[in-house]
Amino acid sequence: MKSETEREKIEQAYREIEKYRDKVEKDYYRLQYHLMPPVGLMNDPNGLIHWNGVYHVFYQWMPFHTGHGAKFWGHYTSCDLIHWKQEKIALAPSEWYDKDGCYSGSAIDHDGVLTLFYTGNVKDEHGNRQTYQCMAVSKNGIDFEKKGVVVTLPDGYTAHFRDPKVWKKGDKWYMIVGAQSESLDGKAVLFRSQNLRDWEHLGPITGGNSRQLGKFGYMWECPDLFELDGQEVLIVCPQGLEAEAMRYQNVHQSGYFVGRLDYETAQFLHGPFAELDRGFEFYAPQTMLDAKGRRILIAWMGVPDQDEDKHPTIAHRWVHALTLPRELKLKDGKLYQTPVEELQMLRKDKIAYSNVTIANEEMILEGISGDVIELNLENICLSGGIMEIAIRNTARIIYHSDERMLTLERKSFANGLTEKRQCRLERLHSLHMFLDTSSMEVFVNKGEEVFTARFFPYKHNQTISFAANGHLVFDIQKWSL
Ligand code: FRU
Repeated sequence: MKSETEREKIEQAYREIEKYRDKVEKDYYRLQYHLMPPVGLMNDPNGLIHWNGVYHVFYQWMPFHTGHGAKFWGHYTSCDLIHWKQEKIALAPSEWYDKDGCYSGSAIDHDGVLTLFYTGNVKDEHGNRQTYQCMAVSKNGIDFEKKGVVVTLPDGYTAHFRDPKVWKKGDKWYMIVGAQSESLDGKAVLFRSQNLRDWEHLGPITGGNSRQLGKFGYMWECPDLFELDGQEVLIVCPQGLEAEAMRYQNVHQSGYFVGRLDYETAQFLHGPFAELDRGFEFYAPQTMLDAKGRRILIAWMGVPDQDEDKHPTIAHRWVHALTLPRELKLKDGKLYQTPVEELQMLRKDKIAYSNVTIANEEMILEGISGDVIELNLENICLSGGIMEIAIRNTARIIYHSDERMLTLERKSFANGLTEKRQCRLERLHSLHMFLDTSSMEVFVNKGEEVFTARFFPYKHNQTISFAANGHLVFDIQKWSL
């Protein structure tokens, strides 16, 4: 049963959805096949789980305005990762231990009960923060009952201690929490439990200012730890890394370490940090294992503190969205991300050209245009020089073959100026792009790199053009989605 306060909060949020439904629907920039909020602000995906044949995606949600605040958990479900149903609101901030936000967390199945772990965020009248790791349960996967606090703040950390991810190893449960130590270093902290209620603090498995890493951010958010292709991967979002050449260009970063966790000593021996995405808007990814054995990642298509108030969609009372679900594979210690194959269900009206040849010119290909489309360029062969794809006069993808550099440029929606993100790439052989009105996800060389970004082109400009200074040949397929 939900408390009276929680039920009232939920009613208020439903009224907000009703009030602004039309306004959100009428926004040209709303997304057609990505998860976005019914109204208000969406941030991290939470509680990803494939449970009894249904994919559950919960998310951080502020229904009452397009900024942050006391977050709810919104909830979508799907049988195929394509057709999503908006479910009842799962959690609302209401109790002494979560009154200022049901912050991010994860989901597990416990003897047939869908069990959520999340951070209860609490602020006192002076703005001082407290943090509690909390539990909520549901038998039907839709109606959740809060069970209160299961972990309080251990010594040695500030109240920036949140985003529990729980999993089972052998016959024990483990929880990893994102943390800030009292020395202001980001850490990933491990707990162990037999019964999900009593948790033993095992300490930080890695973090900044440790044996393995020098200073590495003042806070680590949203950790996720899982096995993949015989190794262990720790995904984490360090805050406060300085930009270095082409790396760490966003306000906050999101990436991973590959290594081995010793569950007895609670030490994670790992290699270097690698960013997950090269684009402008990507943060707080979370993963789930599905019944087909796939490790699927979904992230927030946004970054905290990065031009949040400048998104044009705010005029339509909503902001941000989630990325497409991506399947993860580990090859030679590197994560590859590819869009899940179910997305092919969306394809309509295929147009294809093979051996398109462009030499020192710019070209438009009949039928290769649009705002809600998938584009797949394969067998790209650029002999010297530069190739460029201009998308709706608002973004460009540029590959510079001599410098071995791939660039995504866009017109900033904050100030109209051109801004870019880049990475080194030995060779470019394929570009698989998903455009959804105001979002783009570009999968490079079958997931070797990904660029995720929002962009806001004029509705009537749906032109995509191809240019090469040099000699370029490729095959291309396009679908409307
Ligand atoms: C990451 C984050 C989490 C927190 C949540 C609050 O974007 O700051 O650390 O739990 O968002 O919405």
